[in-house]
Amino acid sequence: PPATPQYRPAYHFSPARMWMNDPNGMVYSQGVYHLFFQHYPEAMVWGPMHWGHATSKDLVHWQEQPIALFPDKLGWIFSGSAVIDENNTAGFGKNALVAIFTHHNDPEEKKKTNRHQYQSLAYSLDQGQTWTKYAGNPVLPNPGIQDFRDPKVSWNTAAGKWIMTLATKDRITFYSSPDLKAWTKESEFGEKLGAHGGVWECPDLFPLTLDGKQQWVLLVSINPGGPNSGSATQYFIGQFDGKKFTPASTATRWVDYGKDNYAGVTYANTGARRIFQGWMSNWEYANQVPTSPWRNAMTVPRELALRKVGADVFLTSQPVPEIGRALTAGSVKLQNLTVKPTLDLTGKLPGLGDKFQLKMSTRQLTDFALVLANGRGEELVIGYDKKANEYYVDRSKSGLVAFSDKFPGRHAGPRRATTPAADLTLLVDASSVEVFADQGLTALSELFFPSEPFTTLTVKSAAGLSISELSYSRLATEAK
Ligand code: FRU
Repeated sequence: PPATPQYRPAYHFSPARMWMNDPNGMVYSQGVYHLFFQHYPEAMVWGPMHWGHATSKDLVHWQEQPIALFPDKLGWIFSGSAVIDENNTAGFGKNALVAIFTHHNDPEEKKKTNRHQYQSLAYSLDQGQTWTKYAGNPVLPNPGIQDFRDPKVSWNTAAGKWIMTLATKDRITFYSSPDLKAWTKESEFGEKLGAHGGVWECPDLFPLTLDGKQQWVLLVSINPGGPNSGSATQYFIGQFDGKKFTPASTATRWVDYGKDNYAGVTYANTGARRIFQGWMSNWEYANQVPTSPWRNAMTVPRELALRKVGADVFLTSQPVPEIGRALTAGSVKLQNLTVKPTLDLTGKLPGLGDKFQLKMSTRQLTDFALVLANGRGEELVIGYDKKANEYYVDRSKSGLVAFSDKFPGRHAGPRRATTPAADLTLLVDASSVEVFADQGLTALSELFFPSEPFTTLTVKSAAGLSISELSYSRLATEAK
């Protein structure tokens, strides 16, 4: 297919060529963020999985590196995590980067035993440039569970051990290890809790502090069964005592209500910051999106936190501040705008491009729609529906939508904030929009592919919206 540079994001990572899915092995080491990813370097569709590799110093500009892990005789390299082994518990070397991943050996063993997925190690002593697979792989053989994958490992101080959070079909299984090599099963979670519209994948477990108290967050991606169909990531908040996860609530909650944020997990070794990044696509159509010569990008890195609203506690996600610091060109700030019934912003935002940040706040939230459009009658609508109390993105008429009947549509997420005042941050980058409402209490990530770039931006509100402040800015430098 002809190349589509117009859809290439500038401040989101996408591979130069070929297929990408889940983020893997994300770790911050010696001033560099390492992002590994599910990669098939020979086609623009999913196939024999490798770990691709990209690095960034600022979470904005990414440099693709040579492929880190290749398939071997134990199988393809599925998703997993990486840690810095500060105390050399595994004996690979002090401060070795250790990747813990799933080997997927299909189809020879699959039909007979279900034992085709198992966990293995690789290590790097040169900051991720070259990797050695551990000779004793696999370190966690499969007990006969069809879906047994995506190990996320971190050091747990309560246990004084490494804890592996593993997706095991319809639940999470926790394992512990003193040395990353010998693993002991500790507990299971979730067989009867949360969403079960599909298989559980790509979990993560980490602490966050709320009102001075430590809570534990468990992320679980599921495919299918997401809130707007297809793949999505749910979360649980509770306690983890070093062995067992106990949720505080049984409500099903989603990290992101848009269709395009899957398999996201957090970086290792970022101190008090908890930085999440997801795959900005959906298994319903990831193999069909109309881009070339690559398929799929990651979301922007997001900082996670917990916030109380009444008696409920929610996980919030907001773009890392590094993104805002890079989007400073052509900056415009407008105050006290009244929309009734429409306000054309196009002339007020000189150089309105397709890679920008827009922030908007109001003291009195009511129905509104932000419409990005082009001269072909194509439009992308981002709005709030007061009656349903939800934020939404409608990409029904956003251009190329017919490549999958699962792509077009209006996708909504509940408003969690209860204040009359509201704020919204939009990140637009060529073919994606990420919406963060109410300081990240509701997030929606969506792809779109206009046949010509959107050139106008109009706000609509029949009810009458007063915008106290609206700011706009673009990327300061082109991606390096
Ligand atoms: C999630 C997933 C993982 C698996 C990987 C294979 O998108 O299905 O469970 O490890 O993709 O590419």
